[in-house]
Amino acid sequence: MKVLGIMGSPRIGGNTDLLLDEALRGAESQGADTEKIVVDKLKISPCREYYGCLRDGNCVISDDMDDIYLKLLEADLVIVASPMFFYGLTAQVKALIDRCQALWARRYVLKQSPPDSTRKGAFIAVGATKGKQLFDGSKLTLKYFFEAIGVDYADELLVRGVDKRGDIKKHPTALQDALELGKRLARG
Ligand SMILES: Cc1cc2nc3c(=O)[nH]c(=O)nc-3n(C[C@H](O)[C@H](O)[C@H](O)COP(=O)(O)O)c2cc1C
Repeated sequence: MKVLGIMGSPRIGGNTDLLLDEALRGAESQGADTEKIVVDKLKISPCREYYGCLRDGNCVISDDMDDIYLKLLEADLVIVASPMFFYGLTAQVKALIDRCQALWARRYVLKQSPPDSTRKGAFIAVGATKGKQLFDGSKLTLKYFFEAIGVDYADELLVRGVDKRGDIKKHPTALQDALELGKRLARG
């Protein structure tokens, strides 16, 4: 099984990063091959609405997304991890998602089937506050992102009340929960 982890925080070694590492470690413990993409380190333009993708399913912008499309389509499990910034995903991960309009076009305009209907997606998110609706907007974005790339929104770990770098280590269950999420998704 191939697992692709998308690390959406600009803070390397921060809360999201640690959670994603645990999830990937859990998946590896079940024999999965894992790869982590640190989006902040890549050059990914926002979508410019050129709409070249409506013609042939390919984005006319060439940058680090070129490789990511393939990785997204080859993964059996895609884990998106992001901190909450103003009740949403980070701009880095949102740019990656918006560029997947090309994959949306393949599926819904060009009527090309996604690779395999058993593929799964999971969402890991962390925020400082305890707001009831903290993750609602991002969950909707993830739902439609996963649909566009042809994976089933299978699991999530949403952690409230964690702010400073590394504070996730003080959380009573979050890192263990992330490990378990990775294990159960890799087990299938
Ligand atoms: C620009 C910015 C906006 C933020 N907006 C929110 C927010 O709307 N709600 C919230 O609970 N936390 C918010 N936070 C706090 C982060 O979500 C929190 O510090 C998180 O633990 C950071 O995770 P990281 O270490 O993975 O980057 C914001 C932080 C920044 C820098």
